[in-house]
Amino acid sequence: MPFAHKPVLVAEVLHFLEPRSGEIFVDATVGGGGHSSMLIHRLLPGGRLIGLDRDPEAINAARERLADYSDNVELVQADFRDLKKVLTEKGIGAVDGLLFDLGVSSYQLDNPERGFSYQREAPLDMRMSPEQELTAADIVNNWSEEKLATIIWQYGEERWARRIAAFIVAARKKAPLVTTTQLVDIIKAAIPAGARRSGPHPAKRTFQALRIAINGELEAIRTALEKLEEILKPGGRVGVISFHSLEDRIVKNCFQQLSGRCTCLPDFPICVCGQRQVLTVLTRRPVFPSAEEIAANPRARSARLRVARRVLKGKEGE
Ligand SMILES: C[S@@+](CC[C@H](N)C(=O)[O-])C[C@H]1O[C@@H](n2cnc3c(N)ncnc32)[C@H](O)[C@@H]1O
Repeated sequence: MPFAHKPVLVAEVLHFLEPRSGEIFVDATVGGGGHSSMLIHRLLPGGRLIGLDRDPEAINAARERLADYSDNVELVQADFRDLKKVLTEKGIGAVDGLLFDLGVSSYQLDNPERGFSYQREAPLDMRMSPEQELTAADIVNNWSEEKLATIIWQYGEERWARRIAAFIVAARKKAPLVTTTQLVDIIKAAIPAGARRSGPHPAKRTFQALRIAINGELEAIRTALEKLEEILKPGGRVGVISFHSLEDRIVKNCFQQLSGRCTCLPDFPICVCGQRQVLTVLTRRPVFPSAEEIAANPRARSARLRVARRVLKGKEGE
């Protein structure tokens, strides 16, 4: 299956991240290389782009797409939680720009073998990396009803989480769940018909919850953003594109925490308030795709971008 994915908010990413020739950028979620191919144009001559992805199929697709820039692009199959380690191994201390385009690619969603889609018959998998052990089948067949209800509620924000968990447990007593369509049928049966008539596909929230749990998506972004001070050069920019409110809340809170100003007296010998300013937030509100972009690429509709810049030493309060 060919790797198809339309990058979102490209003009906005280029505008806020301002890639310039000679700079070093990281695309922490390189996918099919859509954003990277735009970034590398601006980084040349002399610049360097490091692309990471957990998914080896994404790395292969990006390698093909970015083949003309192989002298300036390095691709690594890795979790962005380990970005600092990846950079250290390459002898890079800190970078000028960093992009996270969270979630799954259209290729991962549309590839029936991966099990991410509630619209295609597939094995219950949903792993971003094949090296990972936990699959969707493990969760739905082995986790307790309470644990299932908790993740479906917390990561899917699904009001019928308890009923869905109870229906899953009842169904698996008869036979283990194997396919996405089996799970979709159970979710449909659990949600009362009246509640199913409007809104998104009834399985959307539960599938999102399972995907987040299997891939540790929220912990990954939290861990990566906590290390921004070590990863970005002073003046370096970070942009995060998220696709649902759970991710966006983490990004917003991390940026807010890191942009807190020190409230200690200027002549106090050390900072005791813990409000040292690391970042300046460049987008007070998230940036959304234009109506034209959503019309051309409906999957862009829930995307939102937040950008911040590492403060310069001696300026902006550091
Ligand atoms: C929305 S796609 C990125 C698409 C890409 N920007 C493009 O233009 O082609 C998200 C990608 O991030 C990867 N990903 C998600 N979480 C990751 C993590 N913690 N570490 C590394 N890659 C991750 C997924 O495998 C997927 O390929």
